[in-house]
Amino acid sequence: MRTILVTGATGRLGTALLDAFPRDGLTVRAMSRRPRSSAGAEWRTADLTTGEGVAPAVAGADTIVHLASAPYKGRYTGRVELDGTRRLLAAARECGVRHLVYLSIVGVDRVPWGYFRTKVMAEELVRQGGVPWTIMRVTQFHEFVDQALRGMARLPFLLADPGITAQPVDVRDVAGALLSLVADGPAGEIREYGGPEVLDVDTTLGAWRRARGVRRPVLRVRLPGRLGRAFRAGHLTTGARPSGTITWADYLAGSGGAGRGHGGR
Ligand SMILES: NC(=O)c1ccc[n+]([C@@H]2O[C@H](COP(=O)([O-])OP(=O)(O)OC[C@H]3O[C@@H](n4cnc5c(N)ncnc54)[C@H](OP(=O)(O)O)[C@@H]3O)[C@@H](O)[C@H]2O)c1
Repeated sequence: MRTILVTGATGRLGTALLDAFPRDGLTVRAMSRRPRSSAGAEWRTADLTTGEGVAPAVAGADTIVHLASAPYKGRYTGRVELDGTRRLLAAARECGVRHLVYLSIVGVDRVPWGYFRTKVMAEELVRQGGVPWTIMRVTQFHEFVDQALRGMARLPFLLADPGITAQPVDVRDVAGALLSLVADGPAGEIREYGGPEVLDVDTTLGAWRRARGVRRPVLRVRLPGRLGRAFRAGHLTTGARPSGTITWADYLAGSGGAGRGHGGR
C-alpha cells in the first residue's frame, strides 16, 4: 500500500489535509514534534531541526507532502525551513522517495520580506535536492488572515493600507489541490493556487468586522517602502486556475468565530 508522509501535519493546512485523504488504499503518516494519535493516520514523532526521528518517519514513504514551517521565529525559522528541508531531502534520497511536494507562498520571489526570502531558498533546495518534486505556491489562508486581524484588534484601531489586495484561500480547497498534485506525481515545476476572489482591504476588513463583532475604527495608512509597493502591486495574488471555491464570506459564516484548532489533534 502507498505511504504518504505529511510534515507539519498538526498545522492549519496539515489538519485539513489529513481530513481530506481518502481512507482506503493509502497509508497516511503524519509528523509532529510531539507524540500524537488520531484515527486515519500513523503518527511519527520527529524534529526537523535536530533530525531526531526524521529518517524513520521517511522510511518506506512513497510521497512526502512537506508543510512543516515556523514563520517569524527568528533563527528558528531558518533551522526548520532550510536545515530541516535539507535533512528531509537527504532522508528522502536515501529512501528513494518518488515525489516531494513543498508548500510555498504566492509572491515569495517578488515581495521583499524575510520569511519569503527563506521560502525562496527552501524552494531552491527542493529543486536541487535530487528528489522528484512539485512546489505549490499558495495565497494566504483564511485562518491566517483571521488570526492576524484578531491580533491587530488588540490595538485601539485597525490599521489598513487601502491599496493592498489579497486573495485568501481556504485550507480545505488547498488540501483538495494537494491531493490532485499527489495523484499526478512529480511535475518538476512551480504551481500556484489562490482563493476564488481578489479582495480589497475594505471588503476584507468590513466582512471580518461584521462577522466578529469588532467595532474598532479603521485607520488608513500607506505602508511605506518596497514592501508596501510590492503588496499594492498585487504580488500576493495569482491568476492561476483552478482556484479555490470557498470565499472569505463563506469562511467567516462557517467558522463561528472560534477559528480552527492549531496542533490540537
Ligand atoms: N499560513 C498561511 O497563510 C500560508 C499561506 C501560504 C503558504 N503557507 C505555507 O503552508 C505551509 C503550512 O502552513 P500552516 O500555516 O498550515 O503551518 P502552521 O499552522 O504554522 O503549522 C506549522 C507546522 O510545522 C510543524 N513544525 C514546526 N517546527 C517543526 C520542527 N522543528 N520539526 C517538525 N515539524 C515542525 C508544526 O508541527 P508540531 O508543532 O506538531 O511539531 C506544525 O504542524 C507552510 O510551508 C507555509 O509557509 C502558509
